Amino acid sequence: MSIALSIIYLIATITFIVGLKKLGHPETAKSGNLIAAGGMGLSIVGTIFIHDLEVPTFIYVLIGVAILLGSIIGWLIAIKVEMTKMPELVSLFNGFGGASAALIGFVEFSKQVDESLQAITIIAGIIIGAITFSGSLIAWGKLNGSLKSVVKIPQHNLVNNLFFILILAFAGYTVFTGVQSPIITYSLLAGGLIYGILFVLPIGGADMPVVISLLNSLTGIAAAITGVLYDSMVMLVGGILVGAAGIILTVAMCKAMNRTLGSVIFGNFGGGVVPVEGVNKALGSITRTTASDAAIMMNYATNVIIVPGYGLAVAQAQHVIHELEELLAGKGVNVKYAIHPVAGRMPGHMNVLLAESNVEYNMLMEMDDINPQFSNADVVLVVGANDVVNPAAHNDPASPIYGMPILDVENAKHIIVNKRSMKAGYAGIENELFYNTKTAMLFGDAKAALTDLVTEIKNM
Ligand code: TAP
Repeated sequence: MSIALSIIYLIATITFIVGLKKLGHPETAKSGNLIAAGGMGLSIVGTIFIHDLEVPTFIYVLIGVAILLGSIIGWLIAIKVEMTKMPELVSLFNGFGGASAALIGFVEFSKQVDESLQAITIIAGIIIGAITFSGSLIAWGKLNGSLKSVVKIPQHNLVNNLFFILILAFAGYTVFTGVQSPIITYSLLAGGLIYGILFVLPIGGADMPVVISLLNSLTGIAAAITGVLYDSMVMLVGGILVGAAGIILTVAMCKAMNRTLGSVIFGNFGGGVVPVEGVNKALGSITRTTASDAAIMMNYATNVIIVPGYGLAVAQAQHVIHELEELLAGKGVNVKYAIHPVAGRMPGHMNVLLAESNVEYNMLMEMDDINPQFSNADVVLVVGANDVVNPAAHNDPASPIYGMPILDVENAKHIIVNKRSMKAGYAGIENELFYNTKTAMLFGDAKAALTDLVTEIKNM
């Protein structure tokens, strides 16, 4: 490899690390993304033009056309996608990453492979890449609703584990005997694809963000393996960074939901009690409020905390909530947003959503910082959030969310909850907060309800 190419790869590697670091904060995330993408572009250009590829000119044309088409399609999809559809998009992109790794392994295994280590890396690339590809496509189908949320496979854990052991045994046999034939390559690929489907199919649709993060990590591992195969440091480092970041994110999400990765993969969470009446014998009855009463309460408050949740994203009410916040601030009310780490359906969902409507970053308070402040809040406005404010996480050891860290909104003086009905959230469980005597329910779609609140406050 030429010195120029080594320097390009070194620069690219540094941009990946700097980019990843910058992704940690909303203010720097955009530039972080651009820096890492720039590094990736640089290494692609360097590989094509400086690496001694020894290929006919038309191959360069093919590569150019593929890059151009891919860039246009990716760009068009990315500018059109709605924030709530982002996990779907990530899943799709992720699947293509896995497919690339599998195809590289596929091509390499069609050539003569002499060393066991080389065979292991190629086979691992094929299997992991294929699992990631089919698993990501299933996740994508589940998230966009084209696949049924939970498909029951009898004894699916046993079936999955046995099938995985079978693939490993076959891979081990292939390495050990050194046999190479198209049928073996196709079998390895098919095995990985089938396992990816079996692995993701039984998992609940709402658990998909965790699974996508896990699959993302697998794509990184597949890329790192390919890096070993081609002796490419930049691919190895890039793959390791994606693999490690994906695992950290997966673990962080599970921790914030107080669930183990095993319970996400093997358990079907959610879809339980769906109360509709607003009267629960054990919990009592709810109090309803109107936009005008809620507006009066907020208008004359000193401290207001807004708790956004998944429903805010579904209703696309981020702009109107920002308008409400500015209106209240203009009237001298001290307003803050309380952000739960897993509010919404993907990591940082609420931060990104509110940043889109230009909410100041310093108004977004992390859970640990805002929790002690709820007792000083005159009003808490919960918009489309449910599980992340459910006191059962503290009070009910039998609850599936028991132990999950929550926003302590019940400590506030008054609580207004906006949602459309008494239906449960993601965890599928009753929320005693709605029956609290300090709580008033403001029913309706978040965008409509917040627009009414804004109108009422403007008229005061
Ligand atoms: P949820 O508990 O899912 O509650 C959202 C609530 O929004 C629902 O109860 C729903 O009630 C309401 N809603 C839906 N559409 C609405 C609309 N148009 N207008 C007003 N309200 C609407 O959400 P959360 O409190 O944000 O909690 C997130 C949950 O997702 C947690 O259980 C978390 O573990 C899970 N999860 C999160 C992630 C990440 S990383 N964020 C990943 C996987 C799972 P109605 O139907 O009555 O309106």
